[in-house]
Amino acid sequence: MINAAGQLLLRGRSRGVRPMFSSGLADRSFSSSASSSRKLDGKVAVITGAASGIGEATAKEFVRNGAKVILADIQDDLGRAVAGELGADAASYTHCDVTVEADVAAAVDLAVARHGRLDVVYSNAGIAGGAPPATLAALDLDDYDRVMAVNARSMVACLKHAARVMAPRRAGCILCTASSTAVLGNIGPLAYSMSKAAVVGMVQTTVARQLARDGVRVNTISPHAIPTAMALGIIAETFPAATAEEVRRMVTREMQELEGASLEVEDVARAAVFLASDEAKFITGHNLVVDGGFTVGKVLVRDPPGSA
Ligand SMILES: NC(=O)c1ccc[n+]([C@@H]2O[C@H](COP(=O)([O-])OP(=O)(O)OC[C@H]3O[C@@H](n4cnc5c(N)ncnc54)[C@H](O)[C@@H]3O)[C@@H](O)[C@H]2O)c1
Repeated sequence: MINAAGQLLLRGRSRGVRPMFSSGLADRSFSSSASSSRKLDGKVAVITGAASGIGEATAKEFVRNGAKVILADIQDDLGRAVAGELGADAASYTHCDVTVEADVAAAVDLAVARHGRLDVVYSNAGIAGGAPPATLAALDLDDYDRVMAVNARSMVACLKHAARVMAPRRAGCILCTASSTAVLGNIGPLAYSMSKAAVVGMVQTTVARQLARDGVRVNTISPHAIPTAMALGIIAETFPAATAEEVRRMVTREMQELEGASLEVEDVARAAVFLASDEAKFITGHNLVVDGGFTVGKVLVRDPPGSA
C-alpha cells in the first residue's frame, strides 16, 4: 500500500528506524479479551470480507460482544472455518462476491431470514489492486476498474441493501472500511487511494445525511497499515527484493508513527464494535481514523537541522 512518494517516505524513515519498543514502554496493545461487557447483545450483523484479516477479527469481536453474525466472503473454506470456530448458533458463512449486487442482497436477506432482524452491516471487503505505478500516466485503467468495483461500488451495494431492510425499521448501523490513504495523499497505490476516498465521500456527501432521516447511522473506519494478507502482499509486490521479515517490518514499524503500540486487526474490530453499539447512538457521518496519529503529521524526508 505504498506508491513512489511513499517509497521516499519509507526511505527517510528507515534511516532512523527505531527498534521495537525503543521507548522502553511495554506494548500497549490490548488483548481481545479487553472487552468486558457485551456491547452488541441481541444484535444481528452481516460482515463482508469476514474470512480473514480485519473482517475475521471483527466477526470474532462482534460474537464476543453478543452479536449473531453472517460472515460473507469469496474464500469459502476459510470463511466456513471461521464461522465454525464461532459456533453455529452465533455465526454462519455465506458465499458473497461483493461485486455482484444479487450476492449482497442475498446476504442481507439471509440475516433477516435466519435471525428475524438486521442491525449492522459492515461493508469491509477490499483488495489492494496491482503494484503501484509511479505516476498517473502509468495508471492501468483495467486495474482501476477492478479496484473500484471491489472497494467502492460494492460499498454502494451494501449501503443500498442494508438501507432497504433498516430504513423501514427506522434503526440500524452501517459501517464501511475506508483507509488512511483516503485521508492523507500519496501514501497508497493510486487506484486504491481513489477507491477509499470514494468510500468516505459517498458516506459523507450523501448517504449518512439521507439515512439519518430514516434513523440509520452510517460511518466509515479508516485503518492505517496492518500486516494482513492484503497489506503484506502489496508491499511484497512493490519491494520484490525485500525478505518476508523486511516486508512485515515495513508495515508494522517503518510505516507507523505511534511508539509503544502496534496496530492490530483487533484495534479496528473494537472500533467497529463501538460504532455498532448503542454507545455510539448519536454518531453518524463520521470517519473514524485508526492510525496511531499517522495522518495528523507528515514525516519529512530530510529532518530539519538541529532536530534529534
Ligand atoms: N491491512 C491494511 O493495511 C488496511 C489498511 C486500511 C484499510 N484496509 C481495508 O480493510 C479491509 C479488509 O482488508 P484486510 O487488510 O483485512 O485484508 P484481507 O485480505 O485479510 O481481507 C480482505 C477480505 O476481503 C475478501 N474479498 C476480496 N474481494 C472480495 C469480493 N469480491 N467479495 C467478497 N469478499 C472479498 C477477501 O477474500 C478477504 O477475506 C479492506 O477493505 C482493506 O482495503 C486494510
